[in-house]
Amino acid sequence: MTLQIRSLEEYNEVYKQSVAQPEQFWAEQAETFQWHQKWDKVLEWEFDTPDVKWFVGGKLNITENCLDRHLAERGDQTAIIWEPNDPNAPAKTYTYKELHSEVCRFANVLKNNGIKKGDRVCFYLPMVPEMAIAVLACARIGAIHSVVFAGFSASSLADRINDAACKMVLCSDGNFRGKKQIPVKAVVDEAIATCPSIETVIMLKHTGQEVAWNEKTDKNWAEELTKVDNVCPAEIMDSEDTLFILYTSGSTGKPKGVQHSCGGYMVYTTFSFKNVFQYQDGDVYWCTADVGWITGHSYIVYGPLAAGATTVMFEGVPTFPDAGRFWEVCDKHKVNIFYTAPTAIRALMAKGLEYVTPYKLDTLKVLGTVGEPINEEAWHWYDEHIGKKNCPIVDTWWQTETGGIMISPLANITPLKPTFATLPLPGIQPVLVNAEGEEIEGNDVEGYLCIKFPWPSMIRTTWGDHERCRNVYFNRFKGKYFTGDGCRRDEDGMYRIIGRVDDVIIVSGHNLGTAEIENGINQHARVVESAVVGFPHKIKGNAVYAYIICDGDIDDVDALKKEIIGTVSKEVGPIAKPDKIQFVPGLPKTRSGKIMRRILRKIAGGDRDTSNMGDISTLLNPEIVASVIEGAEAV
Ligand code: PRX
Repeated sequence: MTLQIRSLEEYNEVYKQSVAQPEQFWAEQAETFQWHQKWDKVLEWEFDTPDVKWFVGGKLNITENCLDRHLAERGDQTAIIWEPNDPNAPAKTYTYKELHSEVCRFANVLKNNGIKKGDRVCFYLPMVPEMAIAVLACARIGAIHSVVFAGFSASSLADRINDAACKMVLCSDGNFRGKKQIPVKAVVDEAIATCPSIETVIMLKHTGQEVAWNEKTDKNWAEELTKVDNVCPAEIMDSEDTLFILYTSGSTGKPKGVQHSCGGYMVYTTFSFKNVFQYQDGDVYWCTADVGWITGHSYIVYGPLAAGATTVMFEGVPTFPDAGRFWEVCDKHKVNIFYTAPTAIRALMAKGLEYVTPYKLDTLKVLGTVGEPINEEAWHWYDEHIGKKNCPIVDTWWQTETGGIMISPLANITPLKPTFATLPLPGIQPVLVNAEGEEIEGNDVEGYLCIKFPWPSMIRTTWGDHERCRNVYFNRFKGKYFTGDGCRRDEDGMYRIIGRVDDVIIVSGHNLGTAEIENGINQHARVVESAVVGFPHKIKGNAVYAYIICDGDIDDVDALKKEIIGTVSKEVGPIAKPDKIQFVPGLPKTRSGKIMRRILRKIAGGDRDTSNMGDISTLLNPEIVASVIEGAEAV
């Protein structure tokens, strides 16, 4: 059994040991899994290239650890509870036995359709159980999954398919979101028109809406399942073989395909799941994220299943049929551990307590948050009204690139502090550095958050572009992994994440690159240039503020704004839509032509005083600042 720390003393002890002898520590954890062949060496690493390998020479299949090894002991235990969008539709459950069987069947469907070890399969699916099944089916046969959140546009989907040269897309006909039905297959059809690598599309009938059908490429999910049995031996994978790619926004327009490998990811997601949430046998655990994001990969699918947990998958949205849905589902499925995003908490808090009080919420033991800093008010509301002051809140800091939770309380074991992610997990060595890359020692300090020693689930490379991985994460501060976050370590040595220090804006817990949104805006025929920054938003945490230069006079400002918002929605996806648009005659730039986002950020945040904007006299066009400030009033 993977170690589960049971007291603060034990945490202190284990942490110390994990730093003093990391290889021994992680080898002990890895021993608790099923391997076909044991590793020759626990770790090989250097951060310059970077080149990191865990459990070198080890052979395994992660699905045997998530499924097969549980069959004898907990084959009839529920593995997945699926709660549909429509509260009146029946929930569905899968025992470990059933899940194992479904995974093997779909793995055979993949094989029948020409998918082999190492091939890339793109997912564009709503939150249906078939998504988890198919993810595991890929892992079963060693195919690499690349899940794209089903809210991204056709062109964003096409970019991701092409970057990884995927051979297959898995999709549904449509997607239910609250009262709406959203087309999915139609988006895939549009995307793959520009994706020459796609040979097959397997479509799951879900909403029943009309779809176009291409006899050459399209296959029906249910029909494919009738052609196979449920016997599928697991492909034996090398510990360092790639398990999946997941795209995340970066500071250029092109998303990065973050690559994770089998062995280390398995060990770390399971270890962190068991320790952060303190999952006990029989608990019902619910993470509300979408499998389209890393949270869904690590803490809906792999971590919980490898730990033999019961994991809830929810198709719907927090506000349908009303803002009590989360709490209704908690009562209905007797949820013990509930993990969500601060933006959802703020949105529900704003709707009022009348949506909370009808529910008992008496099965809850542990609450969690992820994705962005949580503000005091939301933390206390969550603590009082959902946790009834009886449930620790684990504020979990981590990233797509880290694969698993890095800094977080361990529920009921280590201390809490509102708005603080608090302390590192065993084996995680965070450091704060200054702009020169010097380590800042001691407490009550602030700096750039880096990690100075490898951990098993860390990013190995960015798909097809190792140099980019080096540049973004390992080049700025030599010998360290740079997170892109600013961070404070308080007088008690507790970590508090301040926010991004690069060109990434976190909107409702989702990473958006400013360059990506600007590229979208610039697709509109009338746009000459644009600059996007984040500004504080009550519900979303941050929202997008776009400064846009257009050609000629604008007759109807509102109509043009609407058109541009439509363009962004189409080019990038609805999550990237600007909340505020300001048309400007120019953008403040340095003499080398770099847009001064610092100034734009201040103005977007409501600052109207030029003396707060730093020395603007060195700008190429200092006069533009006053004009941008004046225009901001009307936005
Ligand atoms: O800025 C941090 C913020 O989300 C970023 C990572 O985003 P992504 O790769 O999409 O992964 C989100 C889910 C793990 C981080 O660089 N972030 C994540 N969790 C927290 C957070 N900021 C503050 N507190 C957190 N608990």
